[in-house]
Amino acid sequence: VLGDTALVTLYGGLADLPAFDPDLDTAAPPPAVRHLRTSIHWADAVVFSTPEYAGALPGSFKNLLDWTIGDDAAGSVYEKPVAWLNTAPRGAAGAHAELRTVLTYAHARIVEEACRTVPLQASLLGPDGLVGDPAALAEITALASVLRARVVPRSAS
Ligand SMILES: Cc1cc2nc3c(=O)[nH]c(=O)nc-3n(C[C@H](O)[C@H](O)[C@H](O)COP(=O)(O)O)c2cc1C
Repeated sequence: VLGDTALVTLYGGLADLPAFDPDLDTAAPPPAVRHLRTSIHWADAVVFSTPEYAGALPGSFKNLLDWTIGDDAAGSVYEKPVAWLNTAPRGAAGAHAELRTVLTYAHARIVEEACRTVPLQASLLGPDGLVGDPAALAEITALASVLRARVVPRSAS
């Protein structure tokens, strides 16, 4: 976040993460874990979005969250402002209950007013695959601006 603007980056390294193993969680963790943790360090806030598998969080995503727990460096998920965007057409209540449990365990700062449920049927997407529906778009924009307002900007120096 800088002034009134925010740069949004999409984390794309989920499939590269090894299964969590405390023996690998050393001062020099695997490169994919370093990349995950550095991405979080650089972010002023994090937005999570997940489907639900078998009534729970997808295992691969829980694995990602497990790798965030042992990070004791400055800028880790500890006390970081976080929110989620739940786009599941059927609610995914089980997955989001678990997400809350894990983020609470991690001492992340869940910004409740920013968390949004926006069921995204295919009909709400434009031909480019992006959200075209104005009401859905307004909810997603609200998530961003509420979360943005709760972030403490870093010093420009
Ligand atoms: C292994 C598996 C388990 C799933 N379990 C659930 C579930 O418990 N609840 C649910 O609402 N959807 C479930 N789904 C549907 C996924 O949530 C759905 O694939 C996800 O929303 C992504 O949809 P999309 O590929 O159409 O974006 C499951 C899908 C898979 C592959």
